[in-house]
Amino acid sequence: MTATRHFLDLSAMTGADLRTIIDDARVRKTATKAGTAEKPLAGKMLAMIFEKPSTRTRVSFDVGMRQLGGETLFLSGTEMQLGRAETIGDTAKVLSRYVDAIMIRTTDHRRLLELAEHATVPVINGLTDDTHPCQIMADIMTFEEHRGPVQGKTIAWTGDGNNVLHSLIEGSARFGYRMNMAVPLGSEPQDKFLNWARNNGGEILLCHEAEQAVAGAHCVVTDTWVSMNQEHRARGHNVFQPYQVNAALMKHAVPEAVFMHCLPAHRGEEVTDEVIDGPQSVVFDAAENRLHAQKSILAWCLGAV
Ligand code: CP
Ligand code: NVA
Repeated sequence: MTATRHFLDLSAMTGADLRTIIDDARVRKTATKAGTAEKPLAGKMLAMIFEKPSTRTRVSFDVGMRQLGGETLFLSGTEMQLGRAETIGDTAKVLSRYVDAIMIRTTDHRRLLELAEHATVPVINGLTDDTHPCQIMADIMTFEEHRGPVQGKTIAWTGDGNNVLHSLIEGSARFGYRMNMAVPLGSEPQDKFLNWARNNGGEILLCHEAEQAVAGAHCVVTDTWVSMNQEHRARGHNVFQPYQVNAALMKHAVPEAVFMHCLPAHRGEEVTDEVIDGPQSVVFDAAENRLHAQKSILAWCLGAV
């Protein structure tokens, strides 16, 4: 029996498999636009559990699964017995009897891992408090569409040391880009992600000056200053203000640098309108690529890639 193919984190995947998925996504995107896309997941059912809000993840997984010929079930955590303390393990065992794959957006990362441990069908990480690997797959795909291979390039992050940054850090070891990050004191990413990336060949710079991180970068990325379920560790906006991505900060990057943000954006906080709506911004291309990248993640998990 072959092992169940989960998509839990970039660190849990091989670089070769991640590259296969990105290359497959480019082909599927072209075929979808040409109206010639195959439907390799006809007859398959994806359950989507949401324990946090979502616009992009929910819609892109739903539409993506349909474009692959499959169907979806939207499950709100609060409306499931899961929300009344049924265990994750029992939920995993039951859902595995009904569906072919499970996507979950949850709080504590251990809930994702427990689901995968007990499920007999593939489990996909749709964001946890710790990581957001699907976002980084779309981001890498988008960067490469606009600027060619990401290997050897520099990606800069400025803002909070959050889940999206953790997955970008893991991506540096898997895709071979240099990862610069500037965060306020006390908002650093977790050491385990930095250590893992450094131990696996990632080139990492962690500092507290936005200009230093962005200097010479080919891609500048930021995100909300207050992530979902992290309100308890929210800091005053004055702490984050020096990390705002604005036109002055973008001047420190190379002239052809692109700007990315996973969205939703808080305009006027972590990014100004002039940047997010400006010529360097590829945020909506990245949002679109969630759809195509996730189709390839689904196809890979279900053995169709
Ligand atoms: N970027 C992202 O995951 O967006 P949603 O929270 O809308 O799913
Ligand atoms: N860091 C953000 C990402 C949202 C897609 C959050 O977790 O709220």
